[in-house]
Amino acid sequence: MELIQDSFRQPLKYVKGVPLISYFAEAMGPLQNFQVWPNDLLISTYPKSGTTWVSEILDMIYQGGDLEKCRRAPIFMRVPFLEFSAPGIPSGIETLKNTPAPRLLKTHLPLSLLPQVLLDQKVKVIYVARNAKDVAVSYYHFYNMAKVHPDPGTWDDFLEKFMAGEVSYGSWFQHVQEWWELTHTHPVLYLFYEDMKEDPKREIQKILEFMGHSLPEETVDRIVQYTSFKEMKKNPMANYSTLPTEIMDHNISAFMRKGIAGDWKSTFTVAQNERFDAHYAEKMAGSSLSFRFQL
Ligand code: A3P
Repeated sequence: MELIQDSFRQPLKYVKGVPLISYFAEAMGPLQNFQVWPNDLLISTYPKSGTTWVSEILDMIYQGGDLEKCRRAPIFMRVPFLEFSAPGIPSGIETLKNTPAPRLLKTHLPLSLLPQVLLDQKVKVIYVARNAKDVAVSYYHFYNMAKVHPDPGTWDDFLEKFMAGEVSYGSWFQHVQEWWELTHTHPVLYLFYEDMKEDPKREIQKILEFMGHSLPEETVDRIVQYTSFKEMKKNPMANYSTLPTEIMDHNISAFMRKGIAGDWKSTFTVAQNERFDAHYAEKMAGSSLSFRFQL
């Protein structure tokens, strides 16, 4: 594992002005040759917004609620992460080669880096957005435990970087707004983490409708049950615990950390919150997007 350890905590690399985890930046070239298949479905999110949760929901839908089938492999193998690359682990593109149709694909890319073919072929997208304050806190803990990221520094340092868009994948503000705008011209189902927390069954019904799919009510109830935070936290095929600790160290912070809306209140100081609110008002001015910061 020496090789892996040596390659930890590298600085972000800028691709077309967007900062990315250095390994992911290197995967951007090969990703441009990516071939879309009929019925591909893309899960898109800014990091820490509920990607794994909606991925598990979608795989359960695809497997008709069959728990055993969903335990066939870890979530990052069942739902290939397009731009993923890290030492010692199959890349997203490699994982795709062994993924049968109908495929679920995951990305965190902003539109400027998304392979154009996904837009040209009108691939259906399920986008999940989460309020910026909870994302920032979750991202800080994730930077600490997932060592493909640079060192986050203190929470205060990290929050400044987050506000400035100097974290992997760039600006949250730009990401949530540009994907929101895309809903006017592209088949995108735009969901909110907070809505999923409030009423997961209602949001799963929205997903089914968007996919033109239906399932018996007891199957939907089963999906709600097995994609709860409590169940996913203990499911090794959903909680990322199968990755080597050199990549993700769950002793620093569990991937399935708290899974709530409003956790930011236990982390933001009053001063940080005021500063963030002022920045937020400026960045989101004129947007029709609105977020709930607590339930
Ligand atoms: P916290 O760090 O706030 O707990 P992503 O999958 O996009 O990386 O997002 C990870 C965040 O989603 C983490 O947030 C994680 O705990 C939360 N999460 C994962 N599965 C969840 C579930 N079933 N219900 C609620 N939150 C979930």
